[in-house]
Amino acid sequence: MGQRLLEAGERVLLIDPKERRYLISLGTGKQFHSHLGIVEHDQLIGAPEGSRVRTTGGSQLLVLRPTLAEYTLKMKRGAQVIYPKDVGLILVYADIFEGATVVEAGSGSGSLTLALARAVGEHGRVISYELREDHHERAVENVNAWYEGRGRKPTNVELRLGDVFDGIPEEVVDRIVLDMPEPWRAVGPSTEPLAGGGILCCYLPTVPQVVHTVEALRRDGFGFIDTLEGLVRTWNIDGQSVRPDHRMVAHTGFIITARKLAD
Ligand SMILES: C[S@@+](CC[C@H](N)C(=O)[O-])C[C@H]1O[C@@H](n2cnc3c(N)ncnc32)[C@H](O)[C@@H]1O
Repeated sequence: MGQRLLEAGERVLLIDPKERRYLISLGTGKQFHSHLGIVEHDQLIGAPEGSRVRTTGGSQLLVLRPTLAEYTLKMKRGAQVIYPKDVGLILVYADIFEGATVVEAGSGSGSLTLALARAVGEHGRVISYELREDHHERAVENVNAWYEGRGRKPTNVELRLGDVFDGIPEEVVDRIVLDMPEPWRAVGPSTEPLAGGGILCCYLPTVPQVVHTVEALRRDGFGFIDTLEGLVRTWNIDGQSVRPDHRMVAHTGFIITARKLAD
């Protein structure tokens, strides 16, 4: 199959010489305006990904389809999204596998939802709960926009407006992933449908939250309870200047995983 050229309706990133990124939705007859000048979308539609276009101000912009991580950092946010470094760890340590049925709460801005949906694939299912209507609507918008930008519909994602503490009607689920302030309150009734051996994963920013959650998991018969955090340090590689970057995203959150044991 040949290279898929950029089409109207797609979301693309325009990247300027200082590597500032702008997420735009391509449309016939539309224009992109920035301090560097104007670019006609028609210059981009039909071009191969990775092309460079010149603005009316004479600067060059590179056009690329965003990776999922780039998209989630650029999309509109209702709630704080999980950073890519932590999403990667959650997918592996919570063992999100192809074909799995995963329950998530809260949906927030839908960043983790998209990563879970990609990991479970078209034969899997992601059911995501969100308590706040404004966050739910934002998550729906962001999830749909990601798929629409690829000419598809999110067939394996169900975004539910509701409180996960009210319980999950599904009979059996393989994984539960909770990114919300009080996950210990979900341990018990809301984790009932988790299959024996299934994994519950919680993402939490502070130590007291971790302690509450681990205590609840121990009380409720979960085993193999592990807590970790991920530190990612990027490097500068430029001539003789080969060293870690001066700045890094240091603390974000702790990841707890636990396995449901039979009674
Ligand atoms: C930090 S945000 C989640 C961000 C999300 N993981 C993402 O990557 O975009 C936490 C969300 O949990 C929601 N929430 C809190 N308690 C909840 C509950 N009991 N049931 C469902 N959602 C809940 C909040 O409204 C908030 O939107």
